[in-house]
Amino acid sequence: MRAVLLDNISPDRVSMGLPSFRQVSMEEYPEAIFLRSTDLKNIDLPKSLLAIGRAGAGVDNIPVDFCSQRGIVVFNAPGANANSVKELVLGMMLNAVRNISPSTNFSSGLVREHLKNVACRGVDPRLVPGLIKKDIEKMKKEFKGEEIAGKSVLIIGLGAIGSSLAKSCIALGMSVYGFDPYALSEKFAGITKVGSLDNLPKCDFVSIHAASTDETKGMVNDKFLDQLDGAILLNFSRGDLIDAKAVAKALVDGHLRLYISDFVNMELSRDFPQKTIFTPHLGASTKEAEERSVKMVVGQMYAFMETGRIQNSVNFPNCELLPRTHCRLVISRFDNSEEMAWLSALLMEYGYNALQTVSKSRGRVSNSIMDIKNPDERIQDMIERLAARNQITRVRLIQTPA
Ligand SMILES: NC(=O)c1ccc[n+]([C@@H]2O[C@H](COP(=O)([O-])OP(=O)(O)OC[C@H]3O[C@@H](n4cnc5c(N)ncnc54)[C@H](O)[C@@H]3O)[C@@H](O)[C@H]2O)c1
Repeated sequence: MRAVLLDNISPDRVSMGLPSFRQVSMEEYPEAIFLRSTDLKNIDLPKSLLAIGRAGAGVDNIPVDFCSQRGIVVFNAPGANANSVKELVLGMMLNAVRNISPSTNFSSGLVREHLKNVACRGVDPRLVPGLIKKDIEKMKKEFKGEEIAGKSVLIIGLGAIGSSLAKSCIALGMSVYGFDPYALSEKFAGITKVGSLDNLPKCDFVSIHAASTDETKGMVNDKFLDQLDGAILLNFSRGDLIDAKAVAKALVDGHLRLYISDFVNMELSRDFPQKTIFTPHLGASTKEAEERSVKMVVGQMYAFMETGRIQNSVNFPNCELLPRTHCRLVISRFDNSEEMAWLSALLMEYGYNALQTVSKSRGRVSNSIMDIKNPDERIQDMIERLAARNQITRVRLIQTPA
């Protein structure tokens, strides 16, 4: 399989899961692209392209609608980075209650200051360790913290990350509240369900893990924040889920004690240096998350190329057929419900027998997989007729296994 690798995705890692893999450039008729963050929206995608594998969850760097119309399947790796995001959130919760960042900044600043005194003011260097120890004993009360056990957290969004965070918080002895209007009831095991954002419980922490959608953008607004009483707000989901002006107001009037986020907000950072902590979009930046994401999309791509199976696509329906023993046709359609009848008539015309067939739809996109017994050389002619059909976006023949 000819594939373009972007964003330093390792060819060795890809060939481990895709034995037929050959790395090519965009000009060499790739069948697949594997990527992380490269923006494909302004790139001419080659006509040969069958699928894109995004080693991560979000696909805002991929022209998904265009891909649907061209029959290009876009795979992602949902949940592959959930543990990494969860661990960073837990780290930042502990950081907040134990004052880890300010206290370590203090210690390193203290050492710098004393060494400066040695260099510039002639202080005897042998006295420095004792002076540092004295200052530390004097100042450490400023950084006295609290335990996380016994605290409460409201988690907004109980998907891969939110659920994993909830389990860890429960294990750490916290009370966990959860709000997710779309989550199944089993997601709330051990969690107190919150039915509405208009009636929030009193919580020490609020952590947001819903995707950014028209519904969730700006969901952390004045009305939401006015219900909090000195809470620590964590946002490791997307920057636009919060109304920054409302967060600023809540930091001033005390509804919020601290805002911690993976998405730097210039104004909040500038105006509230003591009450905001920003990590530079580090949630999924771990060796393990990157490896898991690549492994997951490569596995999905392998199944797609070998059997036509589609799983974890953002634009095509999940679709699979039992292992093939005959030639397999994989057909993508866009915006047409009558195509199946036409297809059956075409098979009859050629005298081909479809042994097993599956068709699935998702919105305007449909996908069919069918196994055909002993097709002769006229199959290419039939494929050309299929491909010429207006609403059929892609036809692929997978040959009989040897
Ligand atoms: N900081 C990072 O590097 C990083 C990495 C991965 C993901 N993320 C962000 O985290 C988000 C969550 O990731 P995930 O893997 O858990 O996604 P997910 O799809 O598994 O979970 C999202 C959850 O949000 C819920 N939801 C949808 N609308 C909601 C609403 N109005 N109110 C409350 N909940 C709602 C869904 O039902 C779902 O359970 C992603 O969308 C992404 O924006 C950030």
